[in-house]
Amino acid sequence: MPNQSGRHFLQVPGPTNIPDRVLRAISAPVIDHRGPELQKLALELLERIKPVFKTKGPVVIFPSSGTGGWEAALVNTLSPGDKVLMFNTGMFAALWYDMVTRFGLEAEYVDTDWRRGPDPEIVEAKLAEDKEHKIKAVLVVHNETSNGVLARVAEIRKAIDRAKHPALFMVDTISSLGSSDFRQDEWGVDVAVGGSQKGLMLPAGLSFNGISEKALKAAKTAKLPKCYWDWDWMFQNNKNGFFPYTPATNLFYGLREALSILEEEGLDNVFARHDRLAEATRRAVRAWGLEIVCAEPREYSSSVTAVFMPQGHSADAFRKNVLDNFNMALGSGLGRLADKVFRIGHLASVNELMLAGTLGGVEMGLKQAGVPYKSGGVLAALDYLAEATGTPAAKAAKSQAA
Ligand SMILES: Cc1ncc(COP(=O)(O)O)c(C=O)c1O
Repeated sequence: MPNQSGRHFLQVPGPTNIPDRVLRAISAPVIDHRGPELQKLALELLERIKPVFKTKGPVVIFPSSGTGGWEAALVNTLSPGDKVLMFNTGMFAALWYDMVTRFGLEAEYVDTDWRRGPDPEIVEAKLAEDKEHKIKAVLVVHNETSNGVLARVAEIRKAIDRAKHPALFMVDTISSLGSSDFRQDEWGVDVAVGGSQKGLMLPAGLSFNGISEKALKAAKTAKLPKCYWDWDWMFQNNKNGFFPYTPATNLFYGLREALSILEEEGLDNVFARHDRLAEATRRAVRAWGLEIVCAEPREYSSSVTAVFMPQGHSADAFRKNVLDNFNMALGSGLGRLADKVFRIGHLASVNELMLAGTLGGVEMGLKQAGVPYKSGGVLAALDYLAEATGTPAAKAAKSQAA
């Protein structure tokens, strides 16, 4: 490949751009994973990660991709033949369901059109029907990365409570953590599964389980076989700042830096930035005359916007053209949305001007692909960003002056 000047635009919805500070932190010399430096670092990280989950409970960190975090959530809390309630809300929900069935668990699997999240009313109805409490867990993907739908986790919690059902509540926060508000303790989430390569601004390689007291209790009787993912084994070692096996030490340096970045910006500001960039993106899509995949405005994702390609046009050919000509990677359609949809990632280390460049690349790509669209999407986004961006103090000063 000849050199392409400037930076590559990585606008897939994870893995995301890694801030230079984090890259520099990761490039430190490798240390002894059983030595005092790692011990100190691990004890620090195991505490500092908790506010990101908004939990006071333990968070376990595995050296794995997010899929490992899914597996750990299941094998630590459930037993062969247990039943779970799940919704087929997109590709990642479908993959978690596939894992559930491979473990010999039974699933009540509610289908959707992949354009909306789990309906809290259906959650309530299904649990209310389950008088014998055969359902042991409700499994929900918070941000469905394949279609840009953000499940209403707080409302689903309330639905479980209304049904007075004792099921565990497990939530995949892999592409919402550090991008959209998530409140493990307040929302009564028993296991929150996270991954490093999205809002946490790291490469893939760390997965997380935030664990409630109720989940810890369930773990005492859970019978699915486990070894690598065993929480107990982790806790035994973590209490001294160690791990049962070799942890991803250099990613820990990156995590420390990424947590500092989140703390410096402030989580609420991080979420507000994501909301703003997502709204600007949707305004661009509407101005182009294209259709957003998420059909429920109250479930719009702030991490990713999935867009339908006009009928008869290939989303993959469009993406390839954008990559070849503008050095920008957009997310592909997955599963039943393959080649029909492209996804614009606007999460993690992204700002207004990066989004402007991204939307500019999409608009030029639409023109080159010869698809029917209206120009003006970028302008619509810029107009919105010009209004919506700025510190609260600057905005207050502006409105006073007006
Ligand atoms: C919502 C969600 N869940 C699970 C996964 C799987 O994670 P991994 O690919 O890190 O194993 C992904 C990956 O993109 C995801 O977006």
